[in-house]
Amino acid sequence: MYTAFLIFALMCWTAHADHHHHLCRSSNMTGFLSVMGNMAEIKAAGQFTYDSQNKRLRFQTNTSIPWNVTTDQDLLVFFDEGIIYKIDSKNQSCEKKLLQSTKHPFDLPADATYMSTMISGSVALEGEGMKFQIWSTPTPNLKGNAMMCLTMRCLPVSTIYVTESSMFMFSNMNVELDVKDPDLLTVPSFCQGLPAEEAPEGTAYSFFDEII
Ligand SMILES: *[C@@H]1O[C@H](CO)[C@@H](O)[C@H](O)[C@H]1NC(C)=O
Ligand SMILES: *[C@@H]1O[C@H](CO)[C@@H](O)[C@H](O)[C@H]1NC(C)=O
Ligand SMILES: *[C@@H]1O[C@H](CO)[C@@H](O)[C@H](O)[C@H]1NC(C)=O
Ligand SMILES: *[C@@H]1O[C@H](CO)[C@@H](O)[C@H](O)[C@H]1NC(C)=O
Repeated sequence: MYTAFLIFALMCWTAHADHHHHLCRSSNMTGFLSVMGNMAEIKAAGQFTYDSQNKRLRFQTNTSIPWNVTTDQDLLVFFDEGIIYKIDSKNQSCEKKLLQSTKHPFDLPADATYMSTMISGSVALEGEGMKFQIWSTPTPNLKGNAMMCLTMRCLPVSTIYVTESSMFMFSNMNVELDVKDPDLLTVPSFCQGLPAEEAPEGTAYSFFDEII
């Protein structure tokens, strides 16, 4: 798995950026997200809902899927406001934290660099290939880089983060282009009015810290 990532990374780094693309934004999405670590372990997996206009994400991991999922989380993130809620529906309890970094795998950041466009699978057979664009973006809070693969209409398919000491990959699957349940993107009543906790000085607390 690790080797496959390296080959993929190499392929991306050596691809020539032949023309310049404008930054693109994904549609609203509902789908399934998995986060895999560099030992091929599944860190988290479950349903997600993303509002691309207001940059709001709900990610509810599901440890009952038959994979060896290591974290159980219910996160509601308002990226524009820089706020993350960690929700415990069973206890009706909540933690509210301020994000220091608002980078995340659902949106191509403004500092991303276009690298190339490729077809995964077959170039010739209808329905057997997927054309995607590859972008690279620095992720200072992880002291590394990310490579985002997006469809031609800017839906994120997978994002690979390479840090000093590890790699992990976000993959979106079975994506539908709308928000199925807008209630998932609103703050539950038992979370309202909470004070926001600030991360300790000098840390670059981000969405990733809750996942990896
Ligand atoms: C969690 O996964 C199990 C097994 O795949 C599935 O039956 C269940 O509906 C899922 N729950 C949610 C909330 O997605
Ligand atoms: C599941 O995860 C645990 C903890 O990371 C690990 O010790 C165990 O070997 C894993 N099992 C399988 C079948 O991958
Ligand atoms: C939720 O409830 C369980 C069982 O009562 C308890 O062990 C756990 O610490 C609670 N979690 C929070 C965040 O309050
Ligand atoms: C995306 O979802 C939000 C929240 O449900 C909604 O307000 C917005 O209109 C949707 N945007 C599009 C382009 O459908």
